[in-house]
Amino acid sequence: MTFPAYRSLLDGAPGHDIFVASQGTELCGLALWRESEEGGRRLLSIFTASVWRRRGVARALLRQAQETYRFAGAGKLAAFWSDSLPGAEPFSRLLASLGWSIPALDCVRISANAQQTKIWSDSRRMERMTIRPGIEFREFGAVSAAERTEIDRLLEAEGVPARWRPFDPLENVNQQLSLLMYRNTHLDGWIVVQDSAPSEVWFYSLYNRGLSASAGALMPLLVEVCRRHHAAFGPTGRWRYNTGPDHPGMAAFLDRYAEEFADFHDRHLYSTFTPTGAPSATV
Ligand SMILES: CC(C)(COP(=O)(O)OP(=O)(O)OC[C@H]1O[C@@H](n2cnc3c(N)ncnc32)[C@H](O)[C@@H]1OP(=O)(O)O)[C@@H](O)C(=O)NCCC(=O)NCCS
Repeated sequence: MTFPAYRSLLDGAPGHDIFVASQGTELCGLALWRESEEGGRRLLSIFTASVWRRRGVARALLRQAQETYRFAGAGKLAAFWSDSLPGAEPFSRLLASLGWSIPALDCVRISANAQQTKIWSDSRRMERMTIRPGIEFREFGAVSAAERTEIDRLLEAEGVPARWRPFDPLENVNQQLSLLMYRNTHLDGWIVVQDSAPSEVWFYSLYNRGLSASAGALMPLLVEVCRRHHAAFGPTGRWRYNTGPDHPGMAAFLDRYAEEFADFHDRHLYSTFTPTGAPSATV
């Protein structure tokens, strides 16, 4: 009755609570919560059996949790969900009606299977993008230590924070798939790719130095790294990339273009609720 990833928690796992709604012996719905670091609770999943939908089951499950946690003096409650779920809209309405905060963006998530990547990278439009005159790509692995220092100095002088510079000492950086992109010999942007799981990589960061301000300026970089990813990992490889609200330009870019190069794309949202009247801590 919940996402497969959470089923193992239903046997009872430390730090987790399960609220169940039932009618006689029939299970109508359940909500799964996890204790968060700050002492609050995070809603992992809420689900109503389809025959019981729109009869107040989820509302009752949330009210019960709010009341239980208020009584226990737990801190803030938080819920995270994907806007791609069929229940996303009903769920956000439900939260709003119970006084939760307006849903905010946690991150834009995109990912693709390399097989999918091959389909589009074979298309003429995508191919043309990476062979535009003046565009050149360089693998991190081919950049010497002296050049790295030089690039780092240039970017430091420009005020690029250390964590966004290409050669930030990060673990598991894939030196073949991480690329610098040049336009007419000027460094324009880069992508840092990290190995995460077998056949899977994270696009850790994408940076546009701003020489070309058009919204699609990074598209050739993405197309090129996806093409190389397919060549390296074959059809079973997968890449993922997330970006949060601290990068509004990138979030807008992905909202607009992700469908062109990803086979999965969503907005991960969150909302919070502070149970009022919670018993204050004894001094
Ligand atoms: C989202 C879900 C949990 C709602 O469960 P439910 O028991 O049907 O919800 P309730 O009957 O308690 O409805 C409470 C409110 O939610 C909203 N809502 C529920 N279903 C809705 C629908 N189909 N359309 C619009 N609003 C809806 C309404 O605001 C409703 O209040 P109202 O009936 O007074 O208008 C259920 O649809 C579900 O299990 N979906 C699949 C799992 C999922 O997406 N979970 C959420 C993210 S983890």
